[in-house]
This record gives sequence, C-alpha cells and structure tokens, in this order.
Amino acid sequence: MNTPGETPAFALWFTGLSGSGKTTLGQMLLPRLRVINPLVKLLDGDVLRNGLNNNLGFSLADRSENLRRAAEVSKLFVDSGFITVNCFITPTHDVQQMVQQIVGAGRLVTVYLDTPVEVCEQRDVKGLYQKARQGLIADFTGISSPFEAPENPTITLSTHLMNSEQAVEKIMGVLGMDG
Ligand SMILES: Nc1ncnc2c1ncn2[C@@H]1O[C@H](COP(=O)(O)OP(=O)(O)O)[C@@H](O)[C@H]1O
Ligand SMILES: [Mg+2]
Repeated sequence: MNTPGETPAFALWFTGLSGSGKTTLGQMLLPRLRVINPLVKLLDGDVLRNGLNNNLGFSLADRSENLRRAAEVSKLFVDSGFITVNCFITPTHDVQQMVQQIVGAGRLVTVYLDTPVEVCEQRDVKGLYQKARQGLIADFTGISSPFEAPENPTITLSTHLMNSEQAVEKIMGVLGMDG
C-alpha cells in the first residue's frame, strides 16, 4: 500500500451494524495512527449526517448518496496525505463496491465488524433498536433494511468475542503498525 520510508496515507473503512463498534474503535485508533502519520481524519456517519449529508434519509438510494459523498471526501483527504478512519454502516455490496471504486482498492483497508444483530440490539447504545422494534424508525439496518456482509474485507473482527483494546491491537497488527 505504501512505499517503504513514505508516510502512509490510506482509508481505513469500518463496516458493520449500528452498535457494532465502529465509532468506539475509530476513536481509539486516532492516537495510535497519529504516531505514524500526524495527519489523521475521522469521518463518522453520524457526524456527516448532521452537516454535509443532512438532506439525506435512510432509503437505499439516500444511503448510496451518503456513502458516495463520504467516499469522495475520504479520497480527497487521502490524496492530501491523510490516513482517514471511516465509520459508516456501509450496508450493501453495491455501496461497498462503490466505496472501493472511489477510494481505490490499493488505498482502502476494510474492517468488517462481524457482530450479530442480537448483540448490537442488546447493547442498543443509542436506543435505536428499541425504537426500530416499536416501528418508530423505518429502514433500520438489520431490522427493516438489509445488511450484506462484505465479500473480501481486509480484517474481520467479532467485537462480541473480544474487548475494544484487543480489537485495536488486532487492527494495528494487520496494518503492520504494532509495537
Ligand atoms: N470489542 C469491542 N469493540 C468495540 N466496541 C465494543 C466492543 N465490545 C463492546 N463494545 C461496545 O459496543 C458499543 C459500540 O458502539 P458504537 O461504537 O457507537 O457502535 P457504532 O459506531 O458501530 O454504531 C460501545 O458501547 C462499546 O463500548
Ligand atoms: Mg457510530
């Protein structure tokens, strides 16, 4: 991905259900990644939906546009020498492939958080699963909107079988940036 001696620039892209751990792990990775490249940018779906993407909903078409914009922003940062940490559900093969096409396969590290919907629902960090079950939220991923596991993720982590520190170490290890 990077020539030896060069400061690495790439997009680390978390994929997984709401509550699988994307934001938690993304934020924990920031100081670790800054050791190898001071230019690190976190792009989080919830944050982008408050600004750049605040005119989009959760239909598959709007999710696709949400991710198209996110991937284009991520690409701009990587082009400028950043490591980006991207926290988006990225629910379907279509949008997963689009992200890869926009960012470029050679600069994309995908981390699939393979956490069962039952575990995410039990965590219910933001109370959204309960609302989705009550019918108060439509098109909720894993409940009333599809989630397709990515086909060839760089890293797959079962965040219900390890703690977040172990997950971070695993990612840093696969990146060759441990120790
Ligand atoms: N191994 C793990 N990795 C990440 N989060 C974990 C792990 N184990 C438990 N958790 C918990 O799961 C929740 C994940 O929530 P969050 O990071 O907001 O998910 P997402 O951003 O994917 O919606 C947090 O409360 C976190 O503490
Ligand atoms: Mg999140």
